[in-house]
Amino acid sequence: MAGVLIIGNGWIGNRLLDKFPDMRMSTEIFETTKQIGAMLEREEPDAVINCAGVTGSPNVDWCETHQVETAVGNAQFPVMLAQACAERGTHLTHLGSGCIFYGTPPQPEGWKEYDYANPVAYYSKTKYAADLVLGGMENVAVVRLKLPIDRIPSKKNTVTKLAGYPKVVEVVNSVTVMDDLLDVFRAVADKRAQGIFHAVHPEPLAWRDLMRWYEEIVDPSHTCEFVSEESLMAQGAIQKQRSSTVLANTRLAEFGIHMRPTEVAVKEALVKYKLSLDANPSS
Ligand SMILES: NC(=O)c1ccc[n+]([C@@H]2O[C@H](COP(=O)([O-])OP(=O)(O)OC[C@H]3O[C@@H](n4cnc5c(N)ncnc54)[C@H](OP(=O)(O)O)[C@@H]3O)[C@@H](O)[C@H]2O)c1
Repeated sequence: MAGVLIIGNGWIGNRLLDKFPDMRMSTEIFETTKQIGAMLEREEPDAVINCAGVTGSPNVDWCETHQVETAVGNAQFPVMLAQACAERGTHLTHLGSGCIFYGTPPQPEGWKEYDYANPVAYYSKTKYAADLVLGGMENVAVVRLKLPIDRIPSKKNTVTKLAGYPKVVEVVNSVTVMDDLLDVFRAVADKRAQGIFHAVHPEPLAWRDLMRWYEEIVDPSHTCEFVSEESLMAQGAIQKQRSSTVLANTRLAEFGIHMRPTEVAVKEALVKYKLSLDANPSS
């Protein structure tokens, strides 16, 4: 067999399989490099996309109190997978997170792909640990996404999360629309791209604008209050500081991969989100 094999039977892995049914998915939970090697021997993929990871439930605050599970899933597992892929010469695309960068970027256009990160949350530290090891490996791509916006309502969708909060933090962020992200994964795997990539749209997005577009396109009756992150932490609504910052997408273009303007991609996702809600009011 050939083609692309997805690892990680979670939210993004299944969105990727839905969009590209020619890909296959392994639903095994791996504990050893040997187990991964045996699966690769059986499946013989040309390329692997690693959508497995530990993201915490109900959110990444879980990772603060489950550090071993988080480290094994986000730091140890990707290295084992990279080793098994390297032994077979199989290209690996690993899903990284833009939430390893905190605060003001070192240059006005945002944090670049090889800037040293400053993770605060334990989840972010384990994601960055894998990036440091995999980011320079031959035949490996690390694709970082940030605050995914999807056309399908889901508790992991940034739109669903923010629309459900009575108090929304007043910040500006880089974002990734899911359909565009899935196209990036396919292109990176097909082109055997190597190194670290920031799969974010060109213009940063203020949550105020996102909520305004949400009210215009999805739900005119929606209201929320805008507050500072410090006040949310002081109220105990979040345990650890969140990464609200801007990333620069400077490397995808080297491979002829381009992401749409933020407003175009986000508004299209919101129009489809509304259609999805209308078709499935309980979602
Ligand atoms: N969602 C986001 O907002 C976001 C943002 C940036 C980056 N990412 C990254 O994108 C990746 C996927 O995120 P997601 O939201 O799709 O997460 P998810 O829904 O939690 O899915 C992750 C999947 O990986 C599986 N898994 C964990 N350890 C495994 C192992 N050793 N072997 C095989 N499968 C394993 C999990 O299985 P179990 O459920 O059985 O444990 C789960 O099915 C993660 O690496 C995450 O860090 C996500």
